[in-house]
Amino acid sequence: MAVTTPQIGLIGLGTMGSALALNIADKGFPIAVWNRTAQVTREFHAGAGELARRITPTETLADLVAAIRPPRAIILMVPAGQAVDDQLAALAPLLDADDLVIDAGNANFHDTNRRNAAALPFHFLGMGVSGGEEGARHGPAIMAGGAVEDWTRMAPVLQAIAARAEDGTPCADHMGPAGAGHFVKAVHNGIEYADMQMIAETYGVMRDGLGMDAQAIGTTFARWNEGILRSYLVEISGKVALAADPVSGGPLLDVILDAAGQKGTGRWTVIEAQNLAAPIPVIEAAVMARNVSARLAERAAGEALFGPAPARVEGLSPDDLEQALIAGKILCYAQGFAMMTAAGAEFGWALDLPAIARVWRAGCIIRSAMLNDMAGALAEDPGRNLMLAPFFADHLRQSVPALRRVVAAGALNGLASPALSSGLAWFDMMRTARGTANMIQGQRDFFGLHGFKRLDGVARPHGPWAGG
Ligand code: 6PG
Repeated sequence: MAVTTPQIGLIGLGTMGSALALNIADKGFPIAVWNRTAQVTREFHAGAGELARRITPTETLADLVAAIRPPRAIILMVPAGQAVDDQLAALAPLLDADDLVIDAGNANFHDTNRRNAAALPFHFLGMGVSGGEEGARHGPAIMAGGAVEDWTRMAPVLQAIAARAEDGTPCADHMGPAGAGHFVKAVHNGIEYADMQMIAETYGVMRDGLGMDAQAIGTTFARWNEGILRSYLVEISGKVALAADPVSGGPLLDVILDAAGQKGTGRWTVIEAQNLAAPIPVIEAAVMARNVSARLAERAAGEALFGPAPARVEGLSPDDLEQALIAGKILCYAQGFAMMTAAGAEFGWALDLPAIARVWRAGCIIRSAMLNDMAGALAEDPGRNLMLAPFFADHLRQSVPALRRVVAAGALNGLASPALSSGLAWFDMMRTARGTANMIQGQRDFFGLHGFKRLDGVARPHGPWAGG
């Protein structure tokens, strides 16, 4: 029997749901759980050890609702999409108006907006949860969206189960109304794709350009993880590179197929950035690179036809790659935060960028030392692009020359670095006051009489081709 009647329930005991339920129980909150397959619920409860006394397993949805003390809070951990709508429909006749349902899956924020607008017969929060299974079990980062009072009601539980930054702040916060939490989680995932891709690009240059083996590469990542790049993704990249293959005894990395999977959250970010006219080229390149990676047969045909890359790169060192990664990371995050500024304006959400950077400092996949400095720089002036903040401008002045060397060496030697080079191209556009769009405007006016503005202020909006 549970120690006290739970006020919280959880539906969906997959990997993430099970881990989150154990985390909640571990922090002292009794919880009732239900899974579509009763056997899964029984096995979960049987395997919960001493936490089982705080967990009430239930056999039907009605049992689950009956096991929770009103006003209830029920966390959904079911696959994003139709399964969430089905579950909300099934809960509707069973719940009271004061009850609260929290969708903690990786929902598309447009779906969360729609569900918020659908006048559900209970309260509803859309909540992004990051950190994988380990995070869900011991402290994820939590990005909630919905009514402030619903957040306030759940905050004691959510902040208790969340990761804590080094200064002790819980990495759980309210991002804004409706789909704001799932939107911020989507941008997180876009940045996650970009961070991973840029690390993979530096790996590629070390492997193919510098001829380093997996051991040397792993040691290099481990060294980077002690400096400004200290982050979960650099840390695990080192561990992946250093892992031995239990089958062959050689480096595991060397036997992993080079075709990346994806569930689609990075793609959603890119689609939304296009809708917002927000430039996020590093994230776009990362999504593109995953798509290209999956085209194994075409890539093999391309190599057979054009020959492999010329290989060895001269005059480049792992230190250059470290600096290139620093620059790429700053540029990528500058783009991601600027996209959130654009979204805030478009959707009428007061997204608090420093608070978002603070939530990302621990628990989530993109957690890193640099996010602390980003939170500080954004707090100085949330409307200013991060690349223009003095702290990051100083870092860019130091690291961009190495980024140029890495991108140039890649271009000359056939080592693709789409994310790093997209970051550099964006940087160069952003530091060029007189760009080249005057030619675009001339072309548009030539073929469509779309008009242009003149630098001298003279009121002649068309070229001579218009007879003007
Ligand atoms: C996280 C992750 C997590 C998961 C995504 C991305 O923040 O914990 O982003 O949500 O890894 O599903 O996975 P894909 O790489 O398959 O898109």
